[in-house]
Amino acid sequence: TYVVTENCIKCKFMDCVEVCPVDCFYVGENFLVIHPDECIDCGVCEPECPAEAILPDSDDKATAWLEINRNYAQSWPNITRKGEPPADAEEWKDKPDKAALLSP
Ligand code: SF4
Ligand code: F3S
Repeated sequence: TYVVTENCIKCKFMDCVEVCPVDCFYVGENFLVIHPDECIDCGVCEPECPAEAILPDSDDKATAWLEINRNYAQSWPNITRKGEPPADAEEWKDKPDKAALLSP
C-alpha cells in the first residue's frame, strides 16, 4: 500500500484524490489518509503530491504512518474530489516536525 505521511499536515493539496482509481482517500481537518486495504498499489498518486507526502509503505519514513492511515481511514469520510487547499498551504510545505499538529 501507499501511505500519506507527515508532509501532508496543514498542506492538504488534495491533488492525490483526483487521480486515485479506487477512491481510497479519507479526509480529516488538516490531513488525508489512504485506506491500506483499499489501495491497489498503482502508485499514480505519489508523484501528484506537491508536498511529496505520499510514500510506499516499504519506505522507512512511512512505517510510523501506516497505522495512522489505517485508523483514520475507518472514521474519516471518503473524499474523491479536490477541494480548496488551506490558504497557507504553501507556507507549510517543506516545514519539518508537523506530526504534533495533526488534527484528529
Ligand atoms: Fe489510490 Fe493508487 Fe495512490 Fe493507492 S497508490 S492511494 S490506489 S492512487
Ligand atoms: Fe496531502 Fe499531498 Fe494529497 S499534501 S492531500 S497527500 S496531494
